[in-house]
Amino acid sequence: MHLLLAIAPVLLGSVLGEDGSRGWLRYAPAADGCESQQVPSAIVALSSTKISPVYIAGQELQNGLKSILGKIVDVTTTGVSDLSAIVVGTVDAYIATYGTVTGVDELEDDGYMLSTDEDSVVILGRNERGVLYGAFEYLSQVARNNITSGRHISNPQAPIRWTNEWDNMDGSIERGYGGASNFFRGGYVVDNTTRAAEYARLLASVGINGVIINNVNANATLLSDRNVEGLGRLADAMRPYGVQLGISLNFASPNATLGTFDPLDPKVDAWWANITDQIYRKVPDMAGYLIKANSEGQPGPLTYNRTLADGANMFARAVQPHGGVVMFRAFVYDNHISYANWTSDRANAQLEFFQHLDGKFDDNVVVQIKYGPIDFQVREAPSPLFAALHNTSTAIELQVTPEYLGQNCHFVYLAPLWKEILDFDLRAENKSSKIKDIVTGQRFKRPLGGYAGVPGAGTNATWLGSHMAMSNLYAYGKLAWDASLSSEDILQDWTRLSFGPDQVVLDTITDISMKSWPAYEKYSGNLGVQTLTDILYTHFGPNPASQDNNGWGQWLRAGNVTIGMDRTIENGTGNAGNYPPEIAEIYDDIDRTPDNLLLWFHHVPYTQRLKSTNETVIQHFYNAHYEGAASAQAFHRQWETLKGKIDDERFEHQLFRQTYQAGHSLVWRDSITQYFYNLSRIADEMGRVGNHPHRIEAESMKLEGYKSYVINPFHAASGFTAIVTTSNVTAGTATTEVPFESGTYDVAVNYYDLFNGTSSYRLEIGNQTVGVWKGDNEKKLGHEPSRYLDGHTATRITFRGVAVQKGDMVRITGQPDGIEPAPLDYVSFLPPGIVD
Ligand code: GCU
Repeated sequence: MHLLLAIAPVLLGSVLGEDGSRGWLRYAPAADGCESQQVPSAIVALSSTKISPVYIAGQELQNGLKSILGKIVDVTTTGVSDLSAIVVGTVDAYIATYGTVTGVDELEDDGYMLSTDEDSVVILGRNERGVLYGAFEYLSQVARNNITSGRHISNPQAPIRWTNEWDNMDGSIERGYGGASNFFRGGYVVDNTTRAAEYARLLASVGINGVIINNVNANATLLSDRNVEGLGRLADAMRPYGVQLGISLNFASPNATLGTFDPLDPKVDAWWANITDQIYRKVPDMAGYLIKANSEGQPGPLTYNRTLADGANMFARAVQPHGGVVMFRAFVYDNHISYANWTSDRANAQLEFFQHLDGKFDDNVVVQIKYGPIDFQVREAPSPLFAALHNTSTAIELQVTPEYLGQNCHFVYLAPLWKEILDFDLRAENKSSKIKDIVTGQRFKRPLGGYAGVPGAGTNATWLGSHMAMSNLYAYGKLAWDASLSSEDILQDWTRLSFGPDQVVLDTITDISMKSWPAYEKYSGNLGVQTLTDILYTHFGPNPASQDNNGWGQWLRAGNVTIGMDRTIENGTGNAGNYPPEIAEIYDDIDRTPDNLLLWFHHVPYTQRLKSTNETVIQHFYNAHYEGAASAQAFHRQWETLKGKIDDERFEHQLFRQTYQAGHSLVWRDSITQYFYNLSRIADEMGRVGNHPHRIEAESMKLEGYKSYVINPFHAASGFTAIVTTSNVTAGTATTEVPFESGTYDVAVNYYDLFNGTSSYRLEIGNQTVGVWKGDNEKKLGHEPSRYLDGHTATRITFRGVAVQKGDMVRITGQPDGIEPAPLDYVSFLPPGIVD
């Protein structure tokens, strides 16, 4: 019963507003002139079982055609032969109804055949899920006014196309920026599964067939009777969409009852077999288990001197009778390695832990490998482990939630990054070995393999916290299905579905999206040095010093004269030698290593020249940061041109984020350039770094109720110093006179917006109040990066076109609130065309 209740609101979704909850499945009414598309006048869905994906396919088609074309089409579940109809069903059901079928020999599991002519459409799948995928594809074509006629078969390239949700039992989501968990609250599985069903629908529409619903840092309480019952409920809600539920396990779960979790202890084996049987009773089609073991404090088999394969196989034995799969993560490393040792290298951990186990995993184990050897950085060399496991099935782990790439407060379209990795040819055994062909199982002839994407989807109406970020979830599904698709084509389909057919909208979103990763890389970490974010805290704002001198191994090895990890074979960590010979030769040789990975593989002077541009490393840092931040300003202006071309709700929501990103990109630019100037003492040839003629530092103003405050890290404040109110209840003022020539300026105020506390500010110039605002980004962004004055909280507000007289009084009044002492950094008076 609960299942039907769960599905009904999904089908009624088309009456809702543009809050993003329907993602790309809006089924918006066709634009003028497009509503006359030829579609048949009946739907035959060859299943009357309401929880069948075939039945759902019929409902989706009916809803979609009504919503897009205004056409009312009846659905029947028994075959009709003489009508113009859309027929959806499995091959077997089709044969049972119509007697025969042709042209489906190449159809594989989960694949679909879509055959369209003037008055009939046939959508067939080998299995029910495939039928639903075909129906979604047809509807996508209708919605984009791009129905392709003729017969077309599409098979997924990989059997495993899962998401890994990092939802915690308390209802939070690790590295999620879109609200609370859709699956858990207060330690238990939620009762209401509506959102889970809606999410499954979105995922199914791009071919995702499995969802691991809980965090890899797993909690043993997931296995309580009440929660196992809840798993059944969630699985029931997602099953009609062909999405199978799976769970992450805490390796030490049996410890509380048995006092051990040794994977070779028969008692432990029996414990896992028993609980697994119980779960399968509630979730008969459970996809399987995901295991993070011996990593970042998580328990694992190494505690008992057992191998990681011993650990993985224990779970494999438990799920094997039920047809389940074990995804065993290769993200295993020691986070206490010695910085003093030049040859220690976290990037070597994957090979050290896994290479010797090749062939020792059971057939239903898949080793799940992050795309790079460290951790979802803005750029990494591809993981060499993909090329080292020839007798083990592998999957690639991609982060859809941009933990190190702006956390959906900056917009980065990730498909180009993923494509670069997937298309990379590792040349194992001197043969073509593209990562996309390895993870599909094709290259090493493995039966399993595929994709694990970490979306971070939450209860926020937008799912991920930002409308634009949804292109990443869409692209993830599309690439997991077919990695040969182009990032731009995927994006444009998503844009048409999400925002309609307007060419300006399409061109603008395409331009912003395709430039977004390069821009972010430019104003964060360049040349393969990693993102340069604060790795010891929230992974959001700049703090390069956090990366060195600790055991985490995300090192820059940045000194006064030199920078970069020496991963060469002779003199360094040897990591370049982890790659097959043809690639090892390139990475080991500074003259052949691509510039964008120079500092990933080589330790060089700041004065080292790049092959591609002849800039020095340090000058490249400076130039790239100024270019990247300038791109973010352009994105903001480009987005503004969409006013009136898309709905106000999404326009305003994204405008706020683009404005935020434009401001925070300057924080990044100034922080990183200052940091490396401070280390190297090599000046910017263009004279920009540390030189801000348009700014008035807050600490240089006349302060009442405010005092100077030295910021840590120093580079997170202009002039290294900000001001804070002297009390946490009384307002302070900072006053000065305009020292610039009279004219019209954009006036920008840089301040710090802490999590907790909503300070209020007023900016007055002359006798005018130019603006009032609140330090409430945490509410507007739905993101709570930091409680301190630092690179995470530094932000900017800009007032455009302010007429100013030289000598005018400038006064900022700040009213503190809670822990937020109305902090201010500087005011910029920006003449037209200048951003500083
Ligand atoms: C990163 C991330 C963690 C996560 C881990 C993992 O380190 O910051 O939050 O648990 O990756 O992938 O296991």
